[in-house]
Amino acid sequence: MLTVSAPGKVILFGEHAVVYGEPALVGAIERRVRVRIRALNQKVVRIRSDATGGVKSFSFEELEQGEDALRYVKRAVSMAFEEAGEKAGIELWISSELPPASGLGSSAAVTVATLKAVLTLLHEDVSRKKLASLAHRVELEVQGSASPTDTAAATYGGVLMVHPGRGIERLGAGEGLPLVVGNTRKERSTKLLVAKVRRLRESMPEVVDPIIGSIGTLTREARRCLENGELERIGELMNINHGLLEALGVSTQELSHLVYVARSAGAEGAKLTGAGGGGCILALARRKHEQVLRALGRECQAMPAEVTFEGVLLEDAE
Ligand code: PMV
Repeated sequence: MLTVSAPGKVILFGEHAVVYGEPALVGAIERRVRVRIRALNQKVVRIRSDATGGVKSFSFEELEQGEDALRYVKRAVSMAFEEAGEKAGIELWISSELPPASGLGSSAAVTVATLKAVLTLLHEDVSRKKLASLAHRVELEVQGSASPTDTAAATYGGVLMVHPGRGIERLGAGEGLPLVVGNTRKERSTKLLVAKVRRLRESMPEVVDPIIGSIGTLTREARRCLENGELERIGELMNINHGLLEALGVSTQELSHLVYVARSAGAEGAKLTGAGGGGCILALARRKHEQVLRALGRECQAMPAEVTFEGVLLEDAE
């Protein structure tokens, strides 16, 4: 039996502006997807998932079919078989500390952990670079389009600066950043929200472009603060970033309410994270960590989510 885990992610700064060429800062968080794997004698892939409940078995051919909740896992298994040049009967147990479809990178984490688990079982040693690229391919095939950011965060951990069209830079700063996530449990479509901002920009570019430019400027400043450990200022920048996301029309009454709940409880800063329209908020809470967690916990699903430098990890091999 092998256990592999991979972390989820939050967008710290720069969502939406990144679609228009501005940078974004993304942090891997210490909430993980775990995949346990063992070999079977039969030629089937059996998947047990806490999220979907129960157990399902697939023939090797069936891995390529279906649009079900297990599609990332199934595609990751077949991609690992292709990479290893062999197929094997396996059983997988998936458990997750990340809520699905809320912008916390659960599909990237399950994809990376599954790939690593299957490849390790088949004695295939791949580099992190290769793993990140295989995982990105899985997301592309399943979703049609996907940025490589979530799969990079799940593979490498740490804080990543995304430079659109120019690649992803791994920063050495930000470990242990004391974050709290508040989840509205409202699933939303990133695609629809990106389209909403696009329409707004097309209808009044002279108003919207400066907002996007300001988000880029504050994201670059946030990077500098992260590298200098200027936590208070990072909080302030999160507040400004939230205001600008509101201006772009992607917040909701509930998200902004949660942002104010976190700030009132003493967070250094708070903002929505990801596409908006539902999903999660992110608070930076060092001094009043417990108070912020409790206050948010009364209003939504609240969870601590420190930035972690532990990317994909082989936890144990019995
Ligand atoms: O909702 P998430 O965490 O998948 O993030 C979406 C981020 C956007 O900037 C809105 C879209 C994108 O592709 O970068």
